[in-house]
Amino acid sequence: MKTIKISIIGFGAVGQGVARSLLSKQEYLKKQGYDIRVVGISDSKGSEINTKGIDLEDALNRKKQKGTVAIDTSDALELIRNVKHDIVVEVTPTNIGNGEPGLGNIRAALHAGRHVVTSNKGPLALRFTELKEAAEDNGLHLRYEATVGGAVPIFNLVHEALAGNSIIGIEGILNGTCNYILTRMEEERMPYELVLKEAQELGIAETDPTYDVEGIDSAIKLVIIANSIFGQNATYGDVDVTGITKITPEALELANKNNYVVKLVCEVRESRLTVAPRLVPKRHPLAVGGTLNVASILTDLAGRITISGKGAGSIETASSILSDILYIARNS
Ligand SMILES: NC(=O)c1ccc[n+]([C@@H]2O[C@H](COP(=O)([O-])OP(=O)(O)OC[C@H]3O[C@@H](n4cnc5c(N)ncnc54)[C@H](OP(=O)(O)O)[C@@H]3O)[C@@H](O)[C@H]2O)c1
Repeated sequence: MKTIKISIIGFGAVGQGVARSLLSKQEYLKKQGYDIRVVGISDSKGSEINTKGIDLEDALNRKKQKGTVAIDTSDALELIRNVKHDIVVEVTPTNIGNGEPGLGNIRAALHAGRHVVTSNKGPLALRFTELKEAAEDNGLHLRYEATVGGAVPIFNLVHEALAGNSIIGIEGILNGTCNYILTRMEEERMPYELVLKEAQELGIAETDPTYDVEGIDSAIKLVIIANSIFGQNATYGDVDVTGITKITPEALELANKNNYVVKLVCEVRESRLTVAPRLVPKRHPLAVGGTLNVASILTDLAGRITISGKGAGSIETASSILSDILYIARNS
Protein backbone atom coordinates (compact mmCIF):
# COMPACT_ATOMS: atom_id res chain seq x y z
CA MET A 1 0.00 0.00 0.00
CA LYS A 2 1.40 3.41 -1.00
CA THR A 3 0.57 6.21 1.47
CA ILE A 4 0.14 9.64 -0.13
CA LYS A 5 -0.20 12.61 2.21
CA ILE A 6 -2.03 15.63 0.81
CA SER A 7 -3.24 19.05 1.92
CA ILE A 8 -6.37 20.81 0.65
CA ILE A 9 -5.85 24.58 0.45
CA GLY A 10 -9.29 26.20 0.08
CA PHE A 11 -12.35 24.43 1.45
CA GLY A 12 -15.19 25.78 -0.68
CA ALA A 13 -17.19 23.95 -3.37
CA VAL A 14 -14.16 22.23 -4.94
CA GLY A 15 -12.17 21.57 -1.73
CA GLN A 16 -15.22 19.98 -0.10
CA GLY A 17 -15.89 18.02 -3.31
CA VAL A 18 -12.37 16.59 -3.08
CA ALA A 19 -12.95 15.62 0.58
CA ARG A 20 -16.31 13.97 -0.26
CA SER A 21 -14.81 12.08 -3.20
CA LEU A 22 -11.92 10.81 -1.06
CA LEU A 23 -14.41 9.64 1.57
CA SER A 24 -16.63 7.84 -0.91
CA LYS A 25 -13.65 6.33 -2.76
CA GLN A 26 -11.60 5.26 0.25
CA GLU A 27 -12.14 1.51 -0.26
CA TYR A 28 -11.81 1.75 -4.05
CA LEU A 29 -8.50 3.61 -3.71
CA LYS A 30 -7.18 1.09 -1.18
CA LYS A 31 -7.99 -1.71 -3.61
CA GLN A 32 -5.89 0.16 -6.19
CA GLY A 33 -3.04 0.23 -3.65
CA TYR A 34 -3.31 3.84 -2.46
CA ASP A 35 -3.94 5.17 1.04
CA ILE A 36 -4.59 8.87 0.39
CA ARG A 37 -4.51 10.82 3.66
CA VAL A 38 -5.43 14.47 4.09
CA VAL A 39 -3.02 15.88 6.69
CA GLY A 40 -4.04 19.54 6.42
CA ILE A 41 -7.00 21.63 5.28
CA SER A 42 -7.05 25.46 5.10
CA ASP A 43 -9.77 28.00 4.48
CA SER A 44 -9.57 31.78 4.78
CA LYS A 45 -9.83 31.63 8.59
CA GLY A 46 -7.21 29.01 9.47
CA SER A 47 -6.43 25.32 9.23
CA GLU A 48 -6.91 21.85 10.60
CA ILE A 49 -3.74 19.80 10.76
CA ASN A 50 -3.34 16.14 11.68
CA THR A 51 -0.24 14.35 10.44
CA LYS A 52 -1.91 10.96 10.94
CA GLY A 53 -4.86 11.92 8.70
CA ILE A 54 -7.86 14.20 9.21
CA ASP A 55 -11.33 12.76 9.83
CA LEU A 56 -12.91 14.19 6.66
CA GLU A 57 -16.51 13.61 7.77
CA ASP A 58 -15.79 15.64 10.87
CA ALA A 59 -14.07 18.44 8.88
CA LEU A 60 -17.00 18.67 6.43
CA ASN A 61 -19.50 18.86 9.32
CA ARG A 62 -17.48 21.54 11.14
CA LYS A 63 -17.28 23.61 7.93
CA LYS A 64 -21.06 23.31 7.50
CA GLN A 65 -21.89 24.18 11.09
CA LYS A 66 -19.25 26.80 11.93
CA GLY A 67 -18.46 28.17 8.46
CA THR A 68 -14.79 27.26 8.91
CA VAL A 69 -12.64 24.17 9.17
CA ALA A 70 -10.10 26.01 11.36
CA ILE A 71 -9.10 24.59 14.72
CA ASP A 72 -5.53 25.82 14.34
CA THR A 73 -4.43 29.39 13.63
CA SER A 74 -1.82 28.29 11.06
CA ASP A 75 -2.54 29.80 7.67
CA ALA A 76 -2.22 28.06 4.31
CA LEU A 77 1.43 29.05 3.78
CA GLU A 78 2.46 27.73 7.21
CA LEU A 79 0.64 24.46 6.52
CA ILE A 80 2.24 24.11 3.08
CA ARG A 81 5.75 24.88 4.37
CA ASN A 82 5.78 23.21 7.79
CA VAL A 83 3.70 20.03 7.57
CA LYS A 84 5.47 17.16 5.81
CA HIS A 85 3.30 15.95 2.90
CA ASP A 86 3.49 14.93 -0.75
CA ILE A 87 0.83 16.88 -2.68
CA VAL A 88 -0.72 20.34 -2.21
CA VAL A 89 -4.23 20.53 -3.67
CA GLU A 90 -4.60 24.29 -4.31
CA VAL A 91 -8.28 25.21 -4.73
CA THR A 92 -8.56 28.84 -3.54
CA PRO A 93 -10.52 31.41 -5.61
CA THR A 94 -9.29 32.44 -9.06
CA ASN A 95 -7.81 35.93 -9.02
CA ILE A 96 -6.83 37.11 -12.46
CA GLY A 97 -5.33 40.40 -11.21
CA ASN A 98 -2.28 39.05 -9.38
CA GLY A 99 -3.06 35.33 -8.98
CA GLU A 100 -3.10 35.49 -5.17
CA PRO A 101 -3.43 33.69 -2.83
CA GLY A 102 -3.03 30.74 -5.23
CA LEU A 103 0.22 31.92 -6.84
CA GLY A 104 2.01 32.28 -3.49
CA ASN A 105 0.65 28.92 -2.33
CA ILE A 106 1.85 27.11 -5.46
CA ARG A 107 5.28 28.79 -5.36
CA ALA A 108 5.62 27.82 -1.67
CA ALA A 109 4.57 24.24 -2.36
CA LEU A 110 7.10 23.79 -5.18
CA HIS A 111 9.80 25.45 -3.07
CA ALA A 112 9.04 23.04 -0.20
CA GLY A 113 9.35 20.05 -2.55
CA ARG A 114 5.65 19.23 -2.79
CA HIS A 115 3.77 18.27 -5.96
CA VAL A 116 0.83 20.52 -6.85
CA VAL A 117 -2.66 19.77 -8.15
CA THR A 118 -4.84 22.81 -8.78
CA SER A 119 -8.17 23.98 -10.21
CA ASN A 120 -7.13 27.62 -9.82
CA LYS A 121 -6.86 29.35 -13.21
CA GLY A 122 -5.23 32.60 -12.03
CA PRO A 123 -1.68 31.38 -11.29
CA LEU A 124 -1.54 29.28 -14.49
CA ALA A 125 -2.89 32.01 -16.77
CA LEU A 126 -0.47 34.57 -15.30
CA ARG A 127 2.71 32.56 -14.58
CA PHE A 128 2.51 29.31 -16.53
CA THR A 129 6.13 29.17 -17.68
CA GLU A 130 7.58 30.18 -14.31
CA LEU A 131 5.54 27.56 -12.40
CA LYS A 132 6.14 24.78 -14.95
CA GLU A 133 9.90 25.43 -14.84
CA ALA A 134 9.93 25.60 -11.03
CA ALA A 135 8.20 22.21 -10.92
CA GLU A 136 10.57 20.67 -13.48
CA ASP A 137 13.70 22.12 -11.82
CA ASN A 138 12.65 20.50 -8.53
CA GLY A 139 11.60 17.17 -10.07
CA LEU A 140 7.96 17.79 -9.12
CA HIS A 141 4.61 17.46 -10.85
CA LEU A 142 2.32 20.45 -11.45
CA ARG A 143 -1.09 19.17 -12.58
CA TYR A 144 -4.02 21.41 -13.50
CA GLU A 145 -6.64 19.30 -15.35
CA ALA A 146 -9.51 20.97 -13.43
CA THR A 147 -8.57 24.51 -14.49
CA VAL A 148 -10.14 24.04 -17.95
CA GLY A 149 -13.36 22.18 -18.65
CA GLY A 150 -14.09 21.02 -15.06
CA ALA A 151 -14.63 17.27 -15.41
CA VAL A 152 -13.57 17.15 -19.08
CA PRO A 153 -10.03 15.70 -19.29
CA ILE A 154 -8.58 17.88 -22.04
CA PHE A 155 -4.93 17.93 -20.90
CA ASN A 156 -4.84 14.23 -20.05
CA LEU A 157 -6.33 13.41 -23.43
CA VAL A 158 -3.82 15.48 -25.37
CA HIS A 159 -0.69 14.78 -23.29
CA GLU A 160 -1.35 11.07 -22.65
CA ALA A 161 -3.86 9.45 -24.99
CA LEU A 162 -2.95 11.54 -28.05
CA ALA A 163 0.81 11.55 -27.40
CA GLY A 164 2.52 11.17 -30.76
CA ASN A 165 0.01 13.36 -32.57
CA SER A 166 0.81 16.91 -33.59
CA ILE A 167 -2.02 19.14 -32.45
CA ILE A 168 -3.15 21.36 -35.32
CA GLY A 169 -5.78 23.33 -33.46
CA ILE A 170 -8.31 23.23 -30.63
CA GLU A 171 -11.83 24.62 -30.66
CA GLY A 172 -14.03 24.53 -27.61
CA ILE A 173 -16.88 25.84 -25.56
CA LEU A 174 -15.35 26.38 -22.14
CA ASN A 175 -17.91 28.44 -20.22
CA GLY A 176 -21.09 26.69 -19.11
CA THR A 177 -22.84 29.93 -18.09
CA CYS A 178 -22.56 31.43 -21.60
CA ASN A 179 -23.59 28.15 -23.20
CA TYR A 180 -26.64 27.94 -20.93
CA ILE A 181 -27.67 31.53 -21.76
CA LEU A 182 -27.30 31.03 -25.54
CA THR A 183 -29.13 27.67 -25.43
CA ARG A 184 -32.07 29.15 -23.46
CA MET A 185 -32.22 32.27 -25.68
CA GLU A 186 -32.49 30.03 -28.72
CA GLU A 187 -34.98 27.54 -27.24
CA GLU A 188 -37.31 30.10 -25.61
CA ARG A 189 -36.69 33.04 -27.97
CA MET A 190 -36.06 35.15 -24.90
CA PRO A 191 -33.83 38.27 -24.81
CA TYR A 192 -30.38 38.13 -23.21
CA GLU A 193 -31.31 40.16 -20.09
CA LEU A 194 -34.23 37.86 -19.16
CA VAL A 195 -32.24 34.65 -19.62
CA LEU A 196 -29.35 36.10 -17.63
CA LYS A 197 -31.77 36.86 -14.76
CA GLU A 198 -33.09 33.29 -14.93
CA ALA A 199 -29.53 31.90 -14.88
CA GLN A 200 -28.71 34.08 -11.85
CA GLU A 201 -31.81 32.81 -10.02
CA LEU A 202 -30.76 29.22 -10.76
CA GLY A 203 -27.21 29.88 -9.50
CA ILE A 204 -25.77 29.20 -12.97
CA ALA A 205 -24.64 32.83 -13.41
CA GLU A 206 -22.89 34.96 -10.77
CA THR A 207 -24.50 38.15 -9.37
CA ASP A 208 -21.79 39.99 -11.30
CA PRO A 209 -21.70 37.98 -14.54
CA THR A 210 -19.07 40.13 -16.32
CA TYR A 211 -16.27 37.58 -16.01
CA ASP A 212 -18.34 34.94 -17.82
CA VAL A 213 -20.50 36.85 -20.33
CA GLU A 214 -17.72 39.15 -21.58
CA GLY A 215 -15.67 36.06 -22.47
CA ILE A 216 -12.94 36.73 -19.87
CA ASP A 217 -13.22 33.30 -18.18
CA SER A 218 -13.10 31.58 -21.60
CA ALA A 219 -10.05 33.63 -22.63
CA ILE A 220 -8.17 32.72 -19.44
CA LYS A 221 -8.82 29.03 -20.08
CA LEU A 222 -7.68 29.44 -23.68
CA VAL A 223 -4.40 30.94 -22.44
CA ILE A 224 -3.79 27.84 -20.28
CA ILE A 225 -4.51 25.60 -23.30
CA ALA A 226 -2.19 27.65 -25.54
CA ASN A 227 0.65 27.46 -23.03
CA SER A 228 0.19 23.84 -22.00
CA ILE A 229 -0.60 22.25 -25.36
CA PHE A 230 0.99 24.59 -27.91
CA GLY A 231 4.04 25.59 -25.84
CA GLN A 232 3.21 29.28 -26.16
CA ASN A 233 3.99 31.95 -23.60
CA ALA A 234 0.61 33.63 -23.97
CA THR A 235 -1.21 35.91 -21.53
CA TYR A 236 -4.77 37.25 -21.44
CA GLY A 237 -3.79 40.27 -23.58
CA ASP A 238 -2.93 37.95 -26.49
CA VAL A 239 -6.55 36.76 -26.84
CA ASP A 240 -9.04 38.49 -29.16
CA VAL A 241 -12.17 38.45 -26.97
CA THR A 242 -15.82 39.16 -27.78
CA GLY A 243 -18.53 38.18 -25.29
CA ILE A 244 -22.19 37.29 -25.74
CA THR A 245 -23.90 40.44 -24.38
CA LYS A 246 -24.78 41.87 -27.82
CA ILE A 247 -26.45 38.73 -29.20
CA THR A 248 -30.15 39.16 -29.98
CA PRO A 249 -32.94 36.53 -30.15
CA GLU A 250 -33.44 37.63 -33.78
CA ALA A 251 -29.86 36.67 -34.67
CA LEU A 252 -30.37 33.26 -33.03
CA GLU A 253 -33.65 32.76 -34.88
CA LEU A 254 -32.06 33.57 -38.22
CA ALA A 255 -29.25 31.11 -37.46
CA ASN A 256 -31.80 28.50 -36.43
CA LYS A 257 -33.72 28.85 -39.72
CA ASN A 258 -30.48 28.06 -41.55
CA ASN A 259 -29.69 25.08 -39.31
CA TYR A 260 -27.06 26.81 -37.22
CA VAL A 261 -26.70 27.62 -33.53
CA VAL A 262 -24.65 30.48 -32.08
CA LYS A 263 -21.95 29.42 -29.60
CA LEU A 264 -19.19 31.24 -27.71
CA VAL A 265 -16.28 29.43 -29.33
CA CYS A 266 -12.68 29.51 -28.06
CA GLU A 267 -10.06 28.68 -30.67
CA VAL A 268 -6.29 28.19 -30.79
CA ARG A 269 -4.80 27.90 -34.25
CA GLU A 270 -1.10 28.47 -34.85
CA SER A 271 -0.44 31.58 -32.78
CA ARG A 272 -3.97 33.05 -33.02
CA LEU A 273 -6.16 32.95 -29.91
CA THR A 274 -9.81 33.96 -30.21
CA VAL A 275 -12.97 33.86 -28.12
CA ALA A 276 -16.05 34.99 -30.06
CA PRO A 277 -19.67 34.07 -30.81
CA ARG A 278 -19.68 31.89 -33.92
CA LEU A 279 -22.23 30.14 -36.13
CA VAL A 280 -21.96 26.38 -35.60
CA PRO A 281 -23.92 23.87 -37.75
CA LYS A 282 -26.54 22.10 -35.61
CA ARG A 283 -24.99 18.68 -36.24
CA HIS A 284 -21.41 19.81 -35.59
CA PRO A 285 -19.67 18.18 -32.54
CA LEU A 286 -19.34 21.65 -30.95
CA ALA A 287 -23.13 22.12 -30.93
CA VAL A 288 -23.67 21.00 -27.30
CA GLY A 289 -26.48 22.55 -25.24
CA GLY A 290 -27.11 23.74 -21.68
CA THR A 291 -24.16 24.13 -19.32
CA LEU A 292 -22.04 21.52 -21.11
CA ASN A 293 -18.44 22.20 -22.11
CA VAL A 294 -16.81 20.68 -25.18
CA ALA A 295 -13.33 20.55 -26.69
CA SER A 296 -12.59 19.47 -30.25
CA ILE A 297 -8.97 18.66 -30.92
CA LEU A 298 -7.64 18.63 -34.47
CA THR A 299 -4.70 16.26 -34.80
CA ASP A 300 -2.52 15.06 -37.68
CA LEU A 301 -2.85 11.30 -37.06
CA ALA A 302 -6.15 10.82 -35.22
CA GLY A 303 -8.11 13.51 -37.06
CA ARG A 304 -10.72 15.33 -35.00
CA ILE A 305 -11.33 14.08 -31.43
CA THR A 306 -14.14 15.70 -29.47
CA ILE A 307 -14.95 15.37 -25.77
CA SER A 308 -17.80 16.92 -23.89
CA GLY A 309 -19.02 16.97 -20.28
CA LYS A 310 -19.68 19.03 -17.21
CA GLY A 311 -17.46 22.11 -16.98
CA ALA A 312 -18.19 22.84 -13.32
CA GLY A 313 -19.61 21.37 -10.12
CA SER A 314 -18.10 20.32 -6.83
CA ILE A 315 -17.85 16.56 -7.45
CA GLU A 316 -17.29 16.87 -11.22
CA THR A 317 -14.28 19.12 -10.66
CA ALA A 318 -13.05 16.78 -7.92
CA SER A 319 -13.00 14.03 -10.58
CA SER A 320 -10.22 15.84 -12.44
CA ILE A 321 -8.38 16.60 -9.20
CA LEU A 322 -8.51 12.97 -8.08
CA SER A 323 -7.22 11.86 -11.47
CA ASP A 324 -4.26 14.27 -11.11
CA ILE A 325 -3.56 13.01 -7.57
CA LEU A 326 -3.53 9.42 -8.83
CA TYR A 327 -1.28 10.36 -11.77
CA ILE A 328 1.25 11.71 -9.27
CA ALA A 329 0.80 8.68 -6.99
CA ARG A 330 1.62 6.38 -9.93
CA ASN A 331 4.48 8.46 -11.33
CA SER A 332 6.46 9.57 -8.30
N1 LIG B 1 -16.69 25.48 -8.58
C1 LIG B 1 -16.38 24.88 -9.70
O1 LIG B 1 -17.20 24.15 -10.29
C2 LIG B 1 -15.01 25.07 -10.33
C3 LIG B 1 -14.70 24.35 -11.50
C4 LIG B 1 -13.40 24.47 -12.04
C5 LIG B 1 -12.48 25.30 -11.42
N2 LIG B 1 -12.84 26.00 -10.28
C6 LIG B 1 -11.81 26.83 -9.63
O2 LIG B 1 -11.47 26.17 -8.41
C7 LIG B 1 -11.15 27.13 -7.41
C8 LIG B 1 -12.06 26.91 -6.21
O3 LIG B 1 -13.40 27.10 -6.61
P1 LIG B 1 -14.61 26.99 -5.56
O4 LIG B 1 -15.84 27.03 -6.37
O5 LIG B 1 -14.34 25.90 -4.61
O6 LIG B 1 -14.44 28.39 -4.79
P2 LIG B 1 -15.10 28.78 -3.38
O7 LIG B 1 -16.30 27.96 -3.15
O8 LIG B 1 -15.19 30.26 -3.39
O9 LIG B 1 -13.99 28.31 -2.30
C9 LIG B 1 -12.77 28.95 -2.16
C10 LIG B 1 -12.15 28.50 -0.85
O10 LIG B 1 -10.86 29.11 -0.72
C11 LIG B 1 -10.75 29.61 0.62
N3 LIG B 1 -9.78 30.70 0.68
C12 LIG B 1 -9.89 31.98 0.23
N4 LIG B 1 -8.76 32.66 0.51
C13 LIG B 1 -7.94 31.79 1.15
C14 LIG B 1 -6.63 31.89 1.71
N5 LIG B 1 -5.94 33.03 1.66
N6 LIG B 1 -6.10 30.79 2.31
C15 LIG B 1 -6.79 29.62 2.39
N7 LIG B 1 -8.03 29.47 1.88
C16 LIG B 1 -8.59 30.55 1.26
C17 LIG B 1 -12.15 30.06 0.98
O11 LIG B 1 -12.23 30.17 2.40
P3 LIG B 1 -13.62 30.46 3.17
O12 LIG B 1 -14.42 29.18 3.05
O13 LIG B 1 -13.18 30.72 4.56
O14 LIG B 1 -14.25 31.62 2.47
C18 LIG B 1 -12.96 28.89 0.41
O15 LIG B 1 -12.97 27.83 1.31
C19 LIG B 1 -11.32 28.50 -8.06
O16 LIG B 1 -10.05 28.94 -8.46
C20 LIG B 1 -12.23 28.22 -9.24
O17 LIG B 1 -12.01 29.13 -10.31
C21 LIG B 1 -14.06 25.90 -9.73
